[in-house]
Amino acid sequence: MSDDRPIGIFDSGIGGLTVTARIRQALPTERLLYFGDGAHVPYGPRGLEEVRRFSFAITEALLAKGAKMIVIACNSASAAALRPLREAYPDVAFVGMEPAVKPAVEHTRTGVVGVMATVATFQSALYGTIVERFAQGVEMIHQPCPGLVKQIEAGEFDSEVTEQLLRGWLEPMLERNIDALVLGCTHYPLVRPLIERIVGPEVRVIDPAPAIARQVERVLHRDGIAANVTSIGELRCYTSGDPEQFLRMMERLGLDGPPVRQATWDQEATLTLP
Ligand code: DGL
Repeated sequence: MSDDRPIGIFDSGIGGLTVTARIRQALPTERLLYFGDGAHVPYGPRGLEEVRRFSFAITEALLAKGAKMIVIACNSASAAALRPLREAYPDVAFVGMEPAVKPAVEHTRTGVVGVMATVATFQSALYGTIVERFAQGVEMIHQPCPGLVKQIEAGEFDSEVTEQLLRGWLEPMLERNIDALVLGCTHYPLVRPLIERIVGPEVRVIDPAPAIARQVERVLHRDGIAANVTSIGELRCYTSGDPEQFLRMMERLGLDGPPVRQATWDQEATLTLP
């Protein structure tokens, strides 16, 4: 059995491309349909209810394009909508993101772990559950990073302003002796080199994207919906923001594909993918 329908992937913007790059690498025969919600980025400061509404409309649009499964390549949207989406679409397989607290806790020797994520993610019940399950006996530093997604969307991966923002959050964590740092937002791996330069080699920086790609592969095989082994995969992107800017970001990440297409929201309620 094989299934050549595409995998639908979404994020508030370009962040989910960090996950998509891993999926593309691991599953080159799969067709990927990616939507970045440039019209509404950042999701982090928005209420969970609003992010949930966007996530439902995006899921609808990706399913209308024939998606066989949905990857929520966004921690904030997963925190807001993963569970209700699974309930609303019991026949669709969803893979979502969650901050990689468990591997960080397993790694730490100092007993202090830092987590960088958005306010939406920290506010969610999902995050509370993860901390309760995996972080007993460990000191957790929950660090929201307001303004960082905006810098990344602007392509400022290594600018003075981005570095100052990061130092403001990371240096106090270093003073408290963290030795593991979780990247709890899919945008943040885009500034990983800068983060690693600031925290140094003693701190393990953890990005769950490779684990998510493996999870997608497992689900495809579990549900018998993997593409034919001889199929030629591709990445097709849509954005509700600026397609030119989106394409430049794809190129910087070494991703190619057909021209990025413009998607439009109608009354903030329904999304159309051309
Ligand atoms: N990349 C997203 C996440 O993983 C959203 C960031 C944002 O839009 O604030 O949380």
